[in-house]
Amino acid sequence: MSDTGPFPMTRLRRLRYHPQVRALVRETQLDPGDLILPLFVRSGKGIRTEIGSMPGVYQMSLDVLAEEVKSIASLGLGGIILFGIPERKDHTGSDALSDSGIVAQALRVAKQAAPELLAISDVCFCEYTDHGHCGIVNDKHGRVDVDNDATLTILGQQAVAHAKAGADVIAPSGMMDGMVGAIRGALDKAGYTHVPLMSYAVKYASAFYGPFRDAAESAPQFGDRRTYQMDPASGPGQALREAELDVQEGADMLMVKPALAYLDILRAVHERFPGVPLAAYNVSGEYSMVKAAAAKGWIDERAVVLESLLAMRRAGATMILTYWAKQVAAWLKS
Ligand code: PBG
Repeated sequence: MSDTGPFPMTRLRRLRYHPQVRALVRETQLDPGDLILPLFVRSGKGIRTEIGSMPGVYQMSLDVLAEEVKSIASLGLGGIILFGIPERKDHTGSDALSDSGIVAQALRVAKQAAPELLAISDVCFCEYTDHGHCGIVNDKHGRVDVDNDATLTILGQQAVAHAKAGADVIAPSGMMDGMVGAIRGALDKAGYTHVPLMSYAVKYASAFYGPFRDAAESAPQFGDRRTYQMDPASGPGQALREAELDVQEGADMLMVKPALAYLDILRAVHERFPGVPLAAYNVSGEYSMVKAAAAKGWIDERAVVLESLLAMRRAGATMILTYWAKQVAAWLKS
């Protein structure tokens, strides 16, 4: 391994003695430009409702969103990702397909208020359907489930509606087979060949999404998401197949989600696809746990957050979606 001899010739503490030397030899960095802030939007005016399970995270109306993006435009963040709570949910999630749907409106507002801030749209149906599942639900041969191929068509429509509204990046999160290819095809046909896809390629059926479902009001009304999201017990083998298919279908960036409990998966995807930018989603449950412990004075929020995000970067994440993006930008500056 090492070219030098053992102790006492080698003393690794020499690299740790001086703070400047520690900084010089540091291998992983955090930068605000690598962080993406999720935002939750709904209709109304003057609304800024804190999510009970996510202190510091709000559902906001479009006027408040405009103020929010203006105030964060100077932080140097990598971007925002928008999630919408529509006024009315229905069986097919039609709000998501409309040019006047909540996310389409939010994209226009955000791009007008802060044109230089990258706006990513999450493309999925769970926030828009009355049943809370990520696509069209029907009964086939006595099995009620999300219809994969029927959902692909409307995923393409949703992506085009978002691109038209100004989305800089489209991020499909529904874990349908073939979703990346279907969305790429729809975008290209509509003339949006330049809009990149960040695929939630490796997304587990995780209990860590609990608080997000409060924030997005998107909990499934029956059953769970285990027929489309991955089994937490499955290892890098299946994750790499998911990632590979998405790359073949045209994914420009990949994502692993959640982050902290899946750093092994993050590392495996990074090693297999070193040239594909990789995102880690530091999900709602990871946020809430730290917030709760910090509120009790049991842990140091800032130190724990910076250490956790560094771990994701160390494991191979190019970028991180995190509810702490604004605070981290401020912490890194100070
Ligand atoms: C689906 C989506 C979910 C999250 C991001 N996109 C929820 C789910 O799959 O149930 C979760 C993010 C988080 O927990 O922070 N549109």
